[in-house]
Amino acid sequence: MKKENISQNNHDWYKPMSFYQIWVRSFCDGNGDGIGDLYGVYDKLEYIKSLGVDGIWFSPIYPSPNADFGYDISDYKDIHPDFGDLDQFKRVLNKAHSLGLKIIMDLVINHTSDEHPWFIESRKGKDNPYSDYYIWRDKPNNWKSLFEGEAWEYDPIRGQYYLHIFAKKQPDLNMDNPKVRQEVKDIMRFWLDMGVDGFREDVINFISKKEGLPDGLSFLPAATGMSHYKDGPHIHEYLSEFRKVCNEYDCFQLGEGPMTTVNSAMKYLTGKTKSLDMMFSFDHMMADCLYTEYLHRPFSLIKLKKAFTKWQNALNGKAWNALYLENHDHPRIISRYGSEYFWRESGTMLAASYIFQQGTPFIYQGQEIGMTNIKLMSIDQYMDVSSITNYHTYHLKEDPERRLHRIHLSSRDSARTPMQWNATDNAGFSKVKPWFYINPNYKRVNVAKEEPDSLSILNFYRKCLSLRKSSETLIYGQYTEHFPKDKNIYMYERSLDDESYLVICSFSRFPVKAHKPPKFSGCHGELVLCNYPDMKTDPHAGIVGNIHLGLNEQELKKGYLRPYETRVYRYIRRR
Ligand code: NOJ
Ligand code: CA
Repeated sequence: MKKENISQNNHDWYKPMSFYQIWVRSFCDGNGDGIGDLYGVYDKLEYIKSLGVDGIWFSPIYPSPNADFGYDISDYKDIHPDFGDLDQFKRVLNKAHSLGLKIIMDLVINHTSDEHPWFIESRKGKDNPYSDYYIWRDKPNNWKSLFEGEAWEYDPIRGQYYLHIFAKKQPDLNMDNPKVRQEVKDIMRFWLDMGVDGFREDVINFISKKEGLPDGLSFLPAATGMSHYKDGPHIHEYLSEFRKVCNEYDCFQLGEGPMTTVNSAMKYLTGKTKSLDMMFSFDHMMADCLYTEYLHRPFSLIKLKKAFTKWQNALNGKAWNALYLENHDHPRIISRYGSEYFWRESGTMLAASYIFQQGTPFIYQGQEIGMTNIKLMSIDQYMDVSSITNYHTYHLKEDPERRLHRIHLSSRDSARTPMQWNATDNAGFSKVKPWFYINPNYKRVNVAKEEPDSLSILNFYRKCLSLRKSSETLIYGQYTEHFPKDKNIYMYERSLDDESYLVICSFSRFPVKAHKPPKFSGCHGELVLCNYPDMKTDPHAGIVGNIHLGLNEQELKKGYLRPYETRVYRYIRRR
């Protein structure tokens, strides 16, 4: 890409930025009740800043009965008492701003909690002002819920069924009702007036349902009906109303788009229907599973590379990617796409595999220290509604141990264990027993241990973010993948004018040889980042754990990569 093209529409403020996602309940307990809160967040803002990120996305921190841990909201304009109150939120916001960190809130408008006053009123009958805030029918259609069986629940008070695409305690709002859309705009203004900088919009492509709610078909039972509520008939109309509010404030909007395809995403991100600045897509989260992590399959690097490159190529010059490998909805990435044995090596390599792509990187709490999946002993110990449903719905002919193993591989709960701050009791997360299990590896995997270690995963994330920020090429440059068919190595280039960065990532547990792309033959690249120590200066550089890799400096020069090694080279083309 030529430098002059950057200026066309690329100077939006969020493009050079990177974000840290906080799931507050498990981040840091500041008031000693075992639950993470905004007092803990306040104390850790300097740590977040030290990572080199520029903003924070808060998963929902509003009052909620926690049927889906905050994604079932009972009051959009307050703070969950477990987390603090509005004054404490304002303190966090002000301190974050003074540190140069933006704050993005989660906007969950596809559904509320069934304990939201709107629903409590709505269920009372057909003649109250909230009657049409939700989707009520005398007879259900065949849609299935993504979290809990049928998508319809009979309400004996109202004598009708209500729609819930997610859990039973998450009734879907009726976005066709202009009063509901007005409420959404009021909620947006409430937070924007307080000073927040934007929204991450939950399952935003699901909010408009097809008229008449016809029966649906799907090869995935849980998605029955989805073709009638994904990218529904009025979605762009409704989102353009919300966009107008955001435009008044120069805020940014990031939509979560489950099952979104490149083509449908482009409608949200470009042209006349542009209503979002970025979208979270899911294709790259399916390199070891199908739709839900519960339908597990062996990890395929080829699938991962295809997904990465598809989105990079499609959006290049037209839209902007939201880059992530982890969030509160997915198991930990080292346990999925890396190796817990080559923990440090794969944790660092995975960072480089996505942070240098074109887009705004998001890092989920604990990802930066290489937290891994937790293995609980019984399904009763898991808390996440979708894990519990999956266990009781799929693979029922298998023995319980095998089914539990599937939950271990797939559960969202692995992302929700308390953050590991140090090796003291309760991992430094709380002075008392935390609300949820701590991963037993906390004595080895924690912030305090990684801080002083120049080769740690934590410090590698810092190096990646600072390298990205230092270079217009790494932010705006053209993305090109090399050797897409290689089953061990993911190699991509970012280029702008006469500068190129080549990012090489080995996904192999064995030494593998990386070839130079022909365009670089004869060119000498400068090694600007590597996740292994230098062979020349460190006698342990060829050793991982107790294994001597048998590689010497000569072999490294010939292009051999150590297990999960990543290297970033910078090339300048002479004119
Ligand atoms: C997506 C959120 O990220 C997830 O945590 C939640 O369960 C569903 N949307 C429903 O709100
Ligand atoms: Ca607390």
